[in-house]
Amino acid sequence: MSAFFANTVRSSYKPIMTRRSISTRCAPKTSRIAKPPRALVPCQSRRPYSQSIQAQEEAIAKLPGLDPSALTISHSITPQVLTPPEELVFGRAFTDHMLSIEWTASSGWLAPRITPYQNLSLDPATCVFHYAFECFEGMKAYKNNEGAVRLFRPDKNAARLNNSASRIALPSVDAQAFIELIAKFAEMEQRFIPAQRGFSLYLRPTLIGTQRTLGVGPPGSALLYVIASPVGPYYPTGFKAVSLEATSYAVRAWPGGVGDKKLGANYAPCIVPQLQAAKNGFHQNLWLFGEEEYVTEVGTMNFFVAIKDKETGKPELWTAPLDGTILDGVTRDSVLDLARERLVKEGWIVKEKQFTMSELAEAADDGRLMEAFGTGTAAVVSPVRRIGWRGRMVECGLKEGVEAGDVAKRMKAWIEGIQYGDEEHEWSYKVR
Ligand SMILES: Cc1ncc(COP(=O)(O)O)c(C=O)c1O
Repeated sequence: MSAFFANTVRSSYKPIMTRRSISTRCAPKTSRIAKPPRALVPCQSRRPYSQSIQAQEEAIAKLPGLDPSALTISHSITPQVLTPPEELVFGRAFTDHMLSIEWTASSGWLAPRITPYQNLSLDPATCVFHYAFECFEGMKAYKNNEGAVRLFRPDKNAARLNNSASRIALPSVDAQAFIELIAKFAEMEQRFIPAQRGFSLYLRPTLIGTQRTLGVGPPGSALLYVIASPVGPYYPTGFKAVSLEATSYAVRAWPGGVGDKKLGANYAPCIVPQLQAAKNGFHQNLWLFGEEEYVTEVGTMNFFVAIKDKETGKPELWTAPLDGTILDGVTRDSVLDLARERLVKEGWIVKEKQFTMSELAEAADDGRLMEAFGTGTAAVVSPVRRIGWRGRMVECGLKEGVEAGDVAKRMKAWIEGIQYGDEEHEWSYKVR
């Protein structure tokens, strides 16, 4: 009977986006964008695209915003048996519930709902499937051994979600309301968060255009949903430095493009270069840009190097600047802030600057490249041992048998200390 129930609940629970709900709620035929402003048609536009995005945001701002007080909760009648923490695999298991909020061009954000985790039912003509109206966030809830649940800098995720959404004509959210709803959801699912260090609940806010149309234009309806997946430590047995293949035959992002937005459409094209790197014996690929071969990001992480200055010999921490070709990572920003607060007084110089692969190779040859690491929510930091580039190996400063440099180790300890609440910090958002 329970199997029957589980099946019933997961597959035949009233779908969130039925054909009917889309056609009645979303008024696809006569949405506010039935006649797109001329400036939205790129080939006719005399204005920069960003101005048209602005205009649209102003129209949307007049509609009802996210309202946490209208939240309704319907509990799962088939709560899962928890997966033992040591068996957790990233992104495989999900919690019992999901948070969903529909939006329409005529009514704004509708009442948020926490429901049992369930399939979405979307018409095959829904615009997300055809024109990639999708953006997402990746954030985590952490539990310490006293049971306190915390989010880490959720305001940064809210701001980035809005930044991504506005670029693809999807609606924005009020950051405070978004955080309140995510916190409520995380609180509700807290039994899924193991209290051991390194474990967390990965939260995946996802915003999609749901209008049923093959017409290319801004969606008249959207759905923001949040699902959650309990995850274990990225390095269950301690740091493992990775090797990278520098990719210059494919470009992830370019000035004026959308590489600084967290759009699903940015990720699928990255898989083949990653497979190529794996085929050549590397763990990940390093994205370069331009004839100069500027170093931008590693796989789906930001990238840092610790390097001694050629003239002064002083230690410097470098990462690529936010010039539109890299994602504004929450971890990147945290590493920069902590470095400015804690490393500068030890004599470090912190730089957001463009740097090239040949500068790294030269520093490695001179013995000035101290360490390199990626940063992201999943791992916090991921140390890099070597980079394959133009048929040679650039060694990144780690001695044989050493898996992480000093800066990477300290950054991980500092950031995790804040995430789990060992250190009281304004970046830590207590859920209850
Ligand atoms: C392309 C890309 N760069 C960088 C990052 C790191 O961002 P964050 O530190 O916010 O996780 C991510 C993480 O999702 C990413 O997808």
